[in-house]
Amino acid sequence: MRTKLAAGNWKMNGTRASLEQLERIAAVAGNGPSEVLICPPATLIHAAAEVAGPVGIGGQDCHAAGSGAHTGDISAEMLKDAGASYVILGHSERRADHGESDALVRTKCRMAWSAGLKAVVCVGETLEQYEHSNTLDIIGGQLAGSIPDEATGHNLVVAYEPVWAIGTGKVPTVNEIGDVHDFIRARLERRFGAGVGRSVRLLYGGSVKASNATEIFHTSNVDGALVGGASLKADDFVPIIEALNASND
Ligand code: PGA
Repeated sequence: MRTKLAAGNWKMNGTRASLEQLERIAAVAGNGPSEVLICPPATLIHAAAEVAGPVGIGGQDCHAAGSGAHTGDISAEMLKDAGASYVILGHSERRADHGESDALVRTKCRMAWSAGLKAVVCVGETLEQYEHSNTLDIIGGQLAGSIPDEATGHNLVVAYEPVWAIGTGKVPTVNEIGDVHDFIRARLERRFGAGVGRSVRLLYGGSVKASNATEIFHTSNVDGALVGGASLKADDFVPIIEALNASND
């Protein structure tokens, strides 16, 4: 059985005042069978970890090198030291804004693992690729290129996030989400064997909110969600956690 995961990505949002939202999320996070994760900006990781209770804390990126002359960057070891247990890697905003390639994401993933962090590796097609029916080709290439050979169900989570669904209010149909998640599952089983392939959790991300969470969580091979905007406020995120808990029944 894969433990379901409700993950929040705060992106470049949040100051110390936002920790009150995390405390409210933490107050309910232990009530159900799902795991809950919040990835605040790096400046808040240490303080967030102190009030997170049962909520895991993650970074949103790490550098591919372990240390050195990389002004402004943050290493996997630093995230771990600050209290993180996860790191998001290869988010489409990193791929687009910072030109991150699959090969770079793979190197970062190895670095995260060597620091003892679990990696949430993001894949997803652009609107143009979706409209040209290239989704599965793109996802297959990103999976092959971004995930190192040492993946296990313990150190890896894959998030499918269609770029055109992020922050737009647009969401693929549940059939489309199911088709992509089934494809990702099959690719992982083919590459890593059935045991590992079946144990890696697959999250859907892109405009998940309370109103669409239940149907998404009942979709084939969806083990949870990576949530941006609707994770910033407890009032929005808690119902998503509850929908995920209910999907276990
Ligand atoms: P969104 O972002 O929920 O605001 O669409 C999801 C993400 O980018 O992880």
